[in-house]
Amino acid sequence: MSSSTSTVTVDNKSVELPVKEGTIGPSVIDISKLYGQTGMFTYDPGFTSTAATESKITYIDGDKGILLYRGYPIDQLAEHGDFLETCYLLLYGELPTAAQKADFDYRVTRHTMVHDQMNRFFTGFRRDAHPMAIMVACVGALSAFYHDSTDISDPHQRMIASMRMIAKMPTLAAMAYKYSIGQPFVYPQNELDYTSNFLRMCFAVPAEDYKVNPVLSRALDRIFILHADHEQNASTSTVRLAGSSGANPFACIAAGIACLWGPAHGGANEAALKMLEEIGTPDRIPEYIAKAKDKNDPFRLMGFGHRVYKNYDPRARIMQKTTHEVLNELGIKDDPLLDVAVELEQIALKDDYFVEKKLYPNIDFYSGITLKAMGFPTSMFTVLFALARTVGWIAQWSEMIEDPSQRIGRPRQLYTGETERDYVTVAQRG
Ligand code: SDX
Repeated sequence: MSSSTSTVTVDNKSVELPVKEGTIGPSVIDISKLYGQTGMFTYDPGFTSTAATESKITYIDGDKGILLYRGYPIDQLAEHGDFLETCYLLLYGELPTAAQKADFDYRVTRHTMVHDQMNRFFTGFRRDAHPMAIMVACVGALSAFYHDSTDISDPHQRMIASMRMIAKMPTLAAMAYKYSIGQPFVYPQNELDYTSNFLRMCFAVPAEDYKVNPVLSRALDRIFILHADHEQNASTSTVRLAGSSGANPFACIAAGIACLWGPAHGGANEAALKMLEEIGTPDRIPEYIAKAKDKNDPFRLMGFGHRVYKNYDPRARIMQKTTHEVLNELGIKDDPLLDVAVELEQIALKDDYFVEKKLYPNIDFYSGITLKAMGFPTSMFTVLFALARTVGWIAQWSEMIEDPSQRIGRPRQLYTGETERDYVTVAQRG
């Protein structure tokens, strides 16, 4: 990578800071020496102009609506590949050969069971506990079971922990769902592919055979591909920061799940469907568009807008196509929620407020309609997002751990509190 310098002048003193260029995308000014040379910090609370790391995994061009996993466009991966192939690509940087894919699938498949004592873990939860609360707890608790894969300095242990998390997330997610509806847990079946196995663990019951619908399994597998990674989003940055302290990988992924839960992030798919249900019919859309534009109203159109995409989220396009595919397969001719979503999108995209602020549908706008049609309750939508994003979190965490220059993340601040003052006894406080 070629490099030049950038001059920063502070109090008539100029410092030269190195500029680093990537393979594509914006260059960066390396400010790591700024404080030492000027005694000043930079200030960027939402990290809107700050690169926290160098990475080779995922590239997003927000203006052009481009998303690449290790250089491959998301629409090509979604069209031609499967989720475990995408997992291999994100983890190892290249698409697998047939032999590598078979070996990877075999290894993941044979880690899908969880320690049977995990079942007892669930009995401590209320049946109506939010499944994301259960996932945060259970994924963190994996470090209580797998002491042989928590030493992050051992590449073999990092690989085993990674396999275990990719393999066990569907099992734990299905257990969280089954527990919430009072049905018995369903064990994984090794002869099924990853996503078919997950659908069976969610929807099979002991009383009858369950046949996976291949169209739905393919659609969900594609949805997992769309959610697999997304550069340095809030939950990935949480995983990296947690990992920078040397915390074990299970604890780091649990931290990522907790962050993803927020409605501004992965929780938006659940919030978007609830919003569509609240709007109910297309004739009520103008009322909600007005609320979204009203500065004094905290309401936002859920599933709209993005920190990086200032164009259509390429994942949303593929998601919309998948929605129609699933509804057709299920014989759902007119879904009122889809009618509201399509009409809402058309109105918003012509409205000056959304055009000027470059607010487009994001991946969470259509996903809820698809997942609801498949039979998942809204409370499970973000769990499915976490299931798919686990490989992205792990790939990013591994990249950080393997970076020889990696240090603990420790941001500074702009302090605007009280200056030093002496203690006052309670008697003197009036
Ligand atoms: C995900 O980062 C990632 O990559 C995330 C993700 C991933 O794969 O990991 O892509 C997944 O989290 C997708 C985003 C899901 N969230 C939502 O759909 C929630 C609704 N959208 C927003 O709350 C918002 O758009 C964010 C959180 C997504 C982005 O927020 P930003 O970048 O901080 O933008 P902002 O809040 O500063 O908004 C800029 C302006 C503001 O108006 P002004 O103060 O400038 O007048 O746009 C307005 C906002 O009020 N705005 C919206 C809006 N989103 C932004 N107004 C109405 N409805 C919205 N949805």
